[in-house]
Amino acid sequence: MKRTTAFLTITAMTVGLVYSLPAWAEEPSQGKDAIAIYFLYSENTEDKDHPDAVSSATPYTNLEISDLEVMTDILKEELEAAGRTLDTYPIIVNEKYDADFDVMVEPARTDITEDREFTFEGELPDLEGYTDIYFGVPVWWGTYPQPVKSFLKQDGVDFSGKTVHFYNTHLGSRLGDMVNQMGTLAPEAVIADDPFVLSADQDIREDDSAFREWIQNQ
Ligand SMILES: Cc1cc2nc3c(=O)[nH]c(=O)nc-3n(C[C@H](O)[C@H](O)[C@H](O)COP(=O)(O)O)c2cc1C
Repeated sequence: MKRTTAFLTITAMTVGLVYSLPAWAEEPSQGKDAIAIYFLYSENTEDKDHPDAVSSATPYTNLEISDLEVMTDILKEELEAAGRTLDTYPIIVNEKYDADFDVMVEPARTDITEDREFTFEGELPDLEGYTDIYFGVPVWWGTYPQPVKSFLKQDGVDFSGKTVHFYNTHLGSRLGDMVNQMGTLAPEAVIADDPFVLSADQDIREDDSAFREWIQNQ
């Protein structure tokens, strides 16, 4: 009799364990969902308020914050309105660029051709547990700003299995070769096939409806 009770108890515990496992296992680890990883010229100069740094190659616009920063704020607002969460990680290097576009534009190109390695302020993000990466990158010289490429090569920065949603700003080159290069830099990332590209003649502050619609469709 005792043995039967023990058997039933163990069976009940086992069944309970088996049934409880999937739900338990499905919980998102550490409550992570999506992360925006983005690169701002203004965060990567010694003079964040310099007009060139906040409007990149469009200094005549004399903006207060860059388009990509505006877009990242909208992204957070839209995802949270949809009941999701968005963590953010700005890529900030220790080796800052000059804030003056005319001074930094050539060194920024040399960094790309020489495949310069950068070091990063603070801890690199722990990407485990995120399903989606919103990747905000301006095109520089037809490709990634070299700090972004260097970031992608860091040990521990692993985009494998994540869905990568590019959102980008440009003056005509759109994403340049960034999607192709991702095939080499993070071959196991899943690239969402409808990146959002914002050209300099589109004013995101005047009309953000297309960007909001894009977020809602991701
Ligand atoms: C060093 C540098 C190189 C650039 N190269 C290109 C380029 O090759 N093609 C292009 O369309 N835009 C180029 N741009 C323009 C930026 O993509 C554009 O200024 C930026 O996306 C504006 O975004 P922001 O307001 O978030 O800074 C370059 C800008 C900088 C600073």
